[in-house]
Amino acid sequence: MSKNKIVRMTVAGLVLVVLFIIVFQVLIRKPYTTMKVAAIPEGEYDPAVWGKHYPLEYESYLRTKETAPSPTGYGGSEKIQKSVKEPEILINFKGMAFSIDYAEDRGHLYALEDLRSTKRIDKTTAGACMTCKTAQLAEIFNEKGWNYAKIPLLELLPRLKHPVVCGNCHDPKTMNLRVINPAFIEAMTQRGIDVKKASREEMRSYVCGQCHVEYYFVPADKKVILPWANGLHPEQIYEYYSAKPNNFAMDWKHPDSETPMLKAQHPEFEVWSGGVHAKSGVSCVDCHMPYMKADGQKYTSHWVTSPMKHLKEACRTCHTQSEQWLLDQVKSTQAEVWEMQHTAGQIVANAHETIGKASKATGANSAELDKARELVRKAQWYWDFVAAENSMGFHNPTMILTTLGRSVDLAHRAIASSEKVLANEKMNLSGKKPAGRDRR
Ligand code: HEC
Ligand code: HEC
Ligand code: HEC
Ligand code: HEC
Repeated sequence: MSKNKIVRMTVAGLVLVVLFIIVFQVLIRKPYTTMKVAAIPEGEYDPAVWGKHYPLEYESYLRTKETAPSPTGYGGSEKIQKSVKEPEILINFKGMAFSIDYAEDRGHLYALEDLRSTKRIDKTTAGACMTCKTAQLAEIFNEKGWNYAKIPLLELLPRLKHPVVCGNCHDPKTMNLRVINPAFIEAMTQRGIDVKKASREEMRSYVCGQCHVEYYFVPADKKVILPWANGLHPEQIYEYYSAKPNNFAMDWKHPDSETPMLKAQHPEFEVWSGGVHAKSGVSCVDCHMPYMKADGQKYTSHWVTSPMKHLKEACRTCHTQSEQWLLDQVKSTQAEVWEMQHTAGQIVANAHETIGKASKATGANSAELDKARELVRKAQWYWDFVAAENSMGFHNPTMILTTLGRSVDLAHRAIASSEKVLANEKMNLSGKKPAGRDRR
């Protein structure tokens, strides 16, 4: 073979390899390039209709009906009351609906069914509650604007037929990812982010961030707000609430400690966003909706559940460690978070009880008691922020453990403050001079 021929063959070979890599990359990165988009009309919410055109996605979506536990022992899709493992919930949420019914989350197909059956709703419950339970939000918001939020939920429920379905995340005509929750769009706009201009990569977390976030309803009109004006950190969200007038900053009054309290709601997006994965550009979808293969065809799994149920596809795309190592890593992080969460919850419960006792003390120092109440309010916010988040700390272990540490510290200080009040009462009764700093 001549030298020239060898050079030419090498070059041709290299070109082929490069071409192959490019084609492979396109196939891997852009699952849509080979997909035929069916024009589904706007207003079609039935996933079975969408499923005729996209059978692999639909079949995997139907698996959200499965109710298996998770191999970690923490996540999982069983509807179990949280208070079985954490009885402190019954004390910390005393006087409000979460002490009556507070179950573990399960698959998207159950969202409406579980809303209908929860003991937390009655005829005073606002329509705003449907915001994260159904794709029909799109048509209802179109029709009524924010007015839907104050219509009683029980009035809207008969109309709601489809839970979290295709239309929550996809534009039916193009199949592009979309967000339909106006509260999320407004909160992002306020942060200077235009979700209409978001990249595909960003949308792979925004579609989840529509619902897996902390929120509240404005007391007057029930409008849904994500409290992100100061940032997504639990401290910043607490400050946001504290700066509001009284009726905003209170979800209910704890009957023992007589403290105006806040209730946190599933802040997965907030917790994830500060963690190592978000900072490395890893989206919710990378772990919770990994690529699967069926008959040589690649598709996105729509069985949105614990990634530990398909650990290989969810984690080993990036991690070279063994499946066992990854599972152990997740479990040991969660075990440490669980221990601290349980401890913090119990100390907070103890603080409510001690403040309750102290406030019944004769001649109780009200300034000292108010101090204790502010401490327990914040302590519970930190504990609840972690307990309401669904990954048992995995989404951001460092921040979660620090937050629990703060909760423990604040709750102990609340107890110390109320014990001071009780000690003063004892001294008063025994005729000694009181020791309290601002005792009059
Ligand atoms: C690096 C992978 C990864 C990313 C990224 C990620 N998660 Fe998770 N997520 C997990 C793991 C691991 C668990 C714990 C599952 C378990 O204990 O079985 C979890 C748990 C959850 C749960 C509770 C699941 C259950 O079984 O109850 C929800 C809900 C959740 N994540 C939502 C999100 C959302 C929303 C985002 C993006 C804002 C996100 N996750 C980003 C890995 C991830
Ligand atoms: C919770 C949000 C969500 C829901 C609900 C949802 N999808 Fe998806 N879907 C996604 C995401 C995220 C992707 C990946 C898109 C990307 O990477 O660009 C995707 C991708 C797809 C694709 C592109 C091909 C592929 O597999 O990657 C099709 C088709 C699809 N979904 C169909 C459906 C159908 C049909 C339903 C209802 C049965 C549905 N989706 C429900 C989020 C969702
Ligand atoms: C329209 C609101 C909405 C959107 C969008 C949404 N979720 Fe959910 N998600 C829910 C609700 C509500 C539940 C709880 C349903 C129940 O327990 O009845 C849930 C449950 C879950 C669970 C627990 C499943 C289990 O088996 O325990 C995971 C994991 C989860 N979502 C992840 C995601 C991810 C990842 C995305 C984005 C791809 C996403 N969700 C988008 C509302 C939403
Ligand atoms: C798209 C890529 C990607 C996916 C998917 C992914 N990771 Fe990671 N993971 C990373 C990167 C990047 C880091 C940052 C450290 C590094 O470079 O190794 C990281 C860090 C970690 C760490 C160490 C940091 C910490 O927070 O404790 C653990 C543990 C981990 N990942 C577990 C998992 C598990 C379990 C899954 C599947 C549920 C998963 N990862 C999915 C890319 C990924």
